[in-house]
Amino acid sequence: MAKVTAIANANIALVKYWGKRDKTLILPQNGSISMTCDGMITTTTVEFSDKYKEHTVIINDEEFQKDEKDIHGHLDRICQLAGIKQKARVVSESNFPVAAGLASSASGFAALTTAAAVAAGLKLSPKELSILTRQGSGSACRSIFGGFVEWYQGEMPDGLDSYAESIVDKDYWPDFRMITTIVQKGKKPVTSRAGMAQTVETCPYYKGWLKTITDDLKSIREGIKEKNFEKVAQAAEHNCLKMHALMITTKPAIIYWIPATMEIIQSVIRWREEGLECYFTIDAGPNVKVLCLKKDEKEINKRLQNLEGVTETIVCRPGDGAKVIDKHLF
Ligand code: DP6
Repeated sequence: MAKVTAIANANIALVKYWGKRDKTLILPQNGSISMTCDGMITTTTVEFSDKYKEHTVIINDEEFQKDEKDIHGHLDRICQLAGIKQKARVVSESNFPVAAGLASSASGFAALTTAAAVAAGLKLSPKELSILTRQGSGSACRSIFGGFVEWYQGEMPDGLDSYAESIVDKDYWPDFRMITTIVQKGKKPVTSRAGMAQTVETCPYYKGWLKTITDDLKSIREGIKEKNFEKVAQAAEHNCLKMHALMITTKPAIIYWIPATMEIIQSVIRWREEGLECYFTIDAGPNVKVLCLKKDEKEINKRLQNLEGVTETIVCRPGDGAKVIDKHLF
């Protein structure tokens, strides 16, 4: 069987996914919308062969140790679907820090599923690939597609109506920018998987959050189609703050922010008051992503780099969905 390599970009949510209604199939409590980030790439090569006795997974030069993101289980799922018995060797590399709330598992599972499905001989439609990817890690089902992407909540118990789709492709709004600021590279204290489960169980405001999602999805979906930056970015910032309010009021509290996070939040608000169009969004980690348009990118990026806690920034525009490439990692 042939070796197959795929690349996938990370994606950052504008309406966040936080909570599952089915933990095995990874079905979300709410729909979400993201931008696929051009240039935040994971490359993954997969080979199934009789010569391998077990699945081996190497991520950024280190052998992957089993954790809650069950990569081995995901490979088993793909083998079962394809009806093959061989084991896989997987080598994967990302060009940005992993496990710091930078959506590395999104690009990782999207690249892995795309490569492994082809290597296993499966012929899947993009929708089927998104459903399969979702079962590895929820947000990853959005990285199968490019541009701005919506992941439907769905209501069927088997999850066949919970998949992602492009709202518009990457060339529709090429002036949209997401600047990721890195303030900390280490692993986060609580993983998103554990954190969101704890929130669903213990946060007194969770039902209130769910009630606001339909409106957030509508504003952002419409704002993207209208290329209305303020409409999209304002709703995204508010949605992010609501998610962090849930995290903070979970028992025990999940607080991802560090002083540098707050410094960026307050700077962005101040710059906005001065007339610079910028908003922020933050995932399950301390790093802040700043939303702006191409016309302000240089100025905002310069100001972010001058902030004390910021070690690095990554500027992204809307990027491509996952795809197979010819160059293998082994
Ligand atoms: C805060 O997709 O990593 O980034 O489905 O358990 O693998 P699992 O969780 P994951 O959670 C992402 C959470 C988020 C919001 C988002 O990307 O929508």
